Amino acid sequence: MGKNKLARWTEMKSFRNVYEPSADEVYTKDHSLKGSWNSKVFSNINPIILELGCGKGEYTVGLATRYPQKNYIGIDIKGARMWRGSKTAHEKNILNVAFIRTRVEFINSFFSEDEIEEIWITFPDPQPKRKNEFKRLTSPRFLNSYRKFLKNNGIIHLKTDSKDLYSYTLDLVKSNCLEIIESTDDLYSGLIENDILSIRTHYEKIFLEKGSRICYLSFRINKNKVITNDQRQKKQ
Ligand SMILES: C[S@@+](CC[C@H](N)C(=O)[O-])C[C@H]1O[C@@H](n2cnc3c(N)ncnc32)[C@H](O)[C@@H]1O
Repeated sequence: MGKNKLARWTEMKSFRNVYEPSADEVYTKDHSLKGSWNSKVFSNINPIILELGCGKGEYTVGLATRYPQKNYIGIDIKGARMWRGSKTAHEKNILNVAFIRTRVEFINSFFSEDEIEEIWITFPDPQPKRKNEFKRLTSPRFLNSYRKFLKNNGIIHLKTDSKDLYSYTLDLVKSNCLEIIESTDDLYSGLIENDILSIRTHYEKIFLEKGSRICYLSFRINKNKVITNDQRQKKQ
């Protein structure tokens, strides 16, 4: 580990807002905070919103600052990136923020039924190879795992530079008859004016500098309906 990374990792251990469970704590069993984030971490009954693959946590911190009456949890496997967001929240005493360093694959060990209101997925790795489809954070495998802890009609927001990932997710949403709230393959063309959507993440800035278009999709998950690839595959 580089010197910088090590220093950040050590510093992050002192932050009250970061949880770094070992694989043992979440691999085959539930984390001790499952079902208790409101009572034990935030000490309120406000809605909880997740950011998956949060990187430096621009959405987690940006939304928490705008909406102090909601709680935000950023999740990523890379601690050195998460250090940025957790340090900002720590220094500015933003109390409605937490970070979990873990793989999204373990997410059901952390949250219980109806514990979460919304999910932001910000510039996830697009996993372009067909054989890696199941690794996409918007594949049926992951959407069904989110269904278990999202409130009924809970919202998923996807922001991505990948037209392929955007189209893939949109097809899935349509073929499963999920309610679309907003959908555009060119967010900054001026059609959607929205302060929240204008938060720019680290990767987003890089993609914008390269001239990429930003896609945005938000939709609701029906808790009682399993999401499948079946209809999408039939179409192909
Ligand atoms: C392209 S970066 C985007 C980071 C940030 N959201 C942004 O927009 O700047 C993708 C992030 O997802 C994280 N990630 C990818 N797969 C993950 C997984 N299965 N579980 C947890 N984090 C994951 C990576 O560590 C990385 O920080």
